[in-house]
Amino acid sequence: MYAIEITNLTKIYKTRALNKGEIKALENVTLNIEKGTIFGLLGPNGAGKTTLVKVLLGIVSATSGSAKLLGENVKNYLVRKNVGYLPENHKFPNYLTGEDVLMYYAKLSGYEISKKSKEIEEYLQLVKMGKWRKTKIKKYSKGMMQRLGLAQAMIHNPEIIFLDEPTDGVDPIGRKEIRDILIELKNKGKTIFINSHLLSEVELVSDKVGMLNEGKLIKLGTVEELTTSKEIFEINISETLPDLVVKELKTKYTFQINNLKISLENANTDKVNKFMDELRKLGVTITSFNQKKESLEDMFIKSLTETKN
Ligand SMILES: Nc1ncnc2c1ncn2[C@@H]1O[C@H](COP(=O)(O)OP(=O)(O)OP(=O)(O)O)[C@@H](O)[C@H]1O
Ligand SMILES: [Mg+2]
Repeated sequence: MYAIEITNLTKIYKTRALNKGEIKALENVTLNIEKGTIFGLLGPNGAGKTTLVKVLLGIVSATSGSAKLLGENVKNYLVRKNVGYLPENHKFPNYLTGEDVLMYYAKLSGYEISKKSKEIEEYLQLVKMGKWRKTKIKKYSKGMMQRLGLAQAMIHNPEIIFLDEPTDGVDPIGRKEIRDILIELKNKGKTIFINSHLLSEVELVSDKVGMLNEGKLIKLGTVEELTTSKEIFEINISETLPDLVVKELKTKYTFQINNLKISLENANTDKVNKFMDELRKLGVTITSFNQKKESLEDMFIKSLTETKN
């Protein structure tokens, strides 16, 4: 049994705003997520990431298709007892203190705890908010709110945790701490679903990654599968190549040229050497050369440009 099973999910918002009529926020999304793994959902603004999470949480109903959490249809509200959620741009009542928030949200999940409960202490310590527990949250910074939000999503010890932009507004050290917490949760067997724009971060923690664009799941795989199949050789040259030369070289090699930077894809060392020989014959000076793996960001930008064209 998968922790999350999404089958042919489509969501169309009907709106009269801006005369847009219908917005297809999700189109035939099918996706299964294994228990005890971290899944990262990427996609540009408006791609449908939050909508997908909202459908899985029963906040928004799907137009067609189905979704299950822990084998149970998401329409069954009881499944949400076992689910934690950190919404995007969350707002807690600001007259509450940190510990009040945790108590209140645990109670909403049917989990009765008091201010003295070991869970409150444990989770506040985990997100490094222990000393702020009695401070009203209106005094919290953005990063502190985010940490508290994370504790709120975990307080009732759920099996699946949805985090919509969890590191939004958090500084680099805080982000690293959040990543460590996510890995710890995974080691405890929890399933984590993260929506994020921060590709480098998703890359560091996710077992699997999906990419949404205009409501469609256009990529799905492990970070390795989506990136390392492509080795990129980057050659920097001292002066721009005339268009005619580029055209001629393109008949023999697959590469992209951006001003003084040439990127060769799917080439082996032999081919790259031949390419560099040709450049030298043309009197071009090579200023540097390096071999790198395609990052998630390279893949992301490329896939988006491909779908646009
Ligand atoms: N309640 C709603 N009514 C009408 N349209 C909506 C509603 N919620 C979202 N949309 C539209 O659905 C599309 C997907 O939005 P969604 O918020 O799911 O994207 P997202 O990937 O989470 O974006 P972001 O990265 O900006 O958070 C957008 O075009 C958005 O305007
Ligand atoms: Mg969103």
